[in-house]
Amino acid sequence: MDFIIPQYTINQINLCGHLDFLNIVIYSAKKSIFYVGLNMYNWLMKFFSADMAIDLGTANTLIYVKGRGIVLNEPSVVAVSENRLIGRKEILAVGTEAKQMFGRTPGTISAVRPLRDGVIADFEVAEEMIKYFIRKVHHRSPLAAPLIIICVPSCATQVERRAIQEAADAAGARKVYIVEESTAAAIGAGLPVEKPVGSMVLDIGGGTTEVAVMSLGGIVYSNAVRVAGDQMDVDIIEYVRRTKNLLIGENTAEEIKKRIGNAIAPKDKDKELTMKIKGRDLMSGTPREAVVTESQIASALAQTVSKIVNSVRQALELTPPELSADIADFGIAMTGGGSLLRGLDTAIRMATGLPVFLVDNPLACVACGSGKMLSNLDKNKHVLQTMY
Ligand SMILES: Nc1ncnc2c1ncn2[C@@H]1O[C@H](COP(=O)(O)OP(=O)(O)OP(=O)(O)O)[C@@H](O)[C@H]1O
Ligand SMILES: [Mg+2]
Repeated sequence: MDFIIPQYTINQINLCGHLDFLNIVIYSAKKSIFYVGLNMYNWLMKFFSADMAIDLGTANTLIYVKGRGIVLNEPSVVAVSENRLIGRKEILAVGTEAKQMFGRTPGTISAVRPLRDGVIADFEVAEEMIKYFIRKVHHRSPLAAPLIIICVPSCATQVERRAIQEAADAAGARKVYIVEESTAAAIGAGLPVEKPVGSMVLDIGGGTTEVAVMSLGGIVYSNAVRVAGDQMDVDIIEYVRRTKNLLIGENTAEEIKKRIGNAIAPKDKDKELTMKIKGRDLMSGTPREAVVTESQIASALAQTVSKIVNSVRQALELTPPELSADIADFGIAMTGGGSLLRGLDTAIRMATGLPVFLVDNPLACVACGSGKMLSNLDKNKHVLQTMY
């Protein structure tokens, strides 16, 4: 039996088929254009963006831009004016300019260090500081978004790492990777981290002291204590207050540490360094001068120095024996500004019996190491982390 199909139905079917085909072609063309556009956009972003590595330190922030090297090195300090009526903070100065205001601000303004012990203590201010530094070095195009590697101490919790990644994202990053400071320090120090030999790096910063043993591109052991250069400043403030009844600020304490600080008391007291300091007398409340000596500062720093030495001893105790043997041959590499304290390398050498050496540019070592990672992202993917 033949079915009779009305002519209009046949025309409709043909027309619908034709329309479907046309829709598919248009849809595919739109999709291709979208992907070509997206690729071009990504390519342009990469082209105009200055991918960067940030050593977001408690004391100093350094930024390494791919192809340009270290382009920013400023204290991690922000001067904030707080309007208590509307509950808003206004950023007045960041970096070097803000550090000069430290301890010299009127009531309404405060010079804040948004990072304490190597991690973000004031998220809002830290985000503004990161944004400011990124914009300062990345002034090419408002559209371009850089890939950013940020260094964190190994003791940073998942929440703290996430907070750091969020701050960089909010600053307009295309992609953010987190890397542990000790890995970057070891690479920056030029240690043979990729080889099957053990290398030990000791990074003493402002907020944290990290000790790590690396082999075959990974961390075999790492340990961080939240005691470093900042604690030494606190020790000096406390010592001067206790023994001389004099109150001094953080900047003065840091100056004393840099000029006459020593991890070991000098044997010859006649030749020891001295320094004249100014502060506020605790009894009279008036400004007064006093003199501090190298051996006095060495005794003020003794407890902190012994905590640093103990963290190295503990690391050596927990290192697998084969790697310990390598470390005994090669020695311990010291990085970070805290390692510049006079006599600290000798103190560690005496306590461990191992060779200890200071790297070439201890303050820039972490930034240089993470900068090197930028040019070889694929090779370093296993040590780079994203939090979401
Ligand atoms: N010559 C020196 N002698 C002693 N300490 C020094 C010297 N120069 C710098 N420092 C100290 O080094 C510390 C800063 O070092 P660095 O920049 O490596 O720390 P950071 O990376 O900011 O801190 P962290 O890694 O803990 O977050 C400060 O405490 C500073 O006082
Ligand atoms: Mg550091």
